[in-house]
Amino acid sequence: MNHEITFKPSGKKATVSRGTSVLAAAQRAGVYIPTRCGGKMGCLMCKIQVDETAAKHLSHAAASEQRKLGSLVEQGYRLACQSKIEGAVTVTVPEDKLKAAIRRQLEAARQEREDELW
Ligand code: FES
Repeated sequence: MNHEITFKPSGKKATVSRGTSVLAAAQRAGVYIPTRCGGKMGCLMCKIQVDETAAKHLSHAAASEQRKLGSLVEQGYRLACQSKIEGAVTVTVPEDKLKAAIRRQLEAARQEREDELW
């Protein structure tokens, strides 16, 4: 059985078979989720955020994943490499900190230019 996964904030989607990891689905959808360990739960770089509804459509976090994530579990974080898709789901890929800083600077510069024009 296939399920659709949607990645926020890009809105990109992929249709994958049940049991596919979110990391593999992201690669299929062309969504970049950082990884250094190749999905072996060694790098903790593949964090995604899921709300309560989405969590019901993903496999449960194993004790080992919960241990690795610590208090982030309560904030809705999962590891994309360990989260298996069990239904139609939407997940959020947190923005890279460097990209977020650049985006904020560009937005501030754009706002300054707009203010100068008025
Ligand atoms: S890809 Fe390294 S922990 Fe998930």
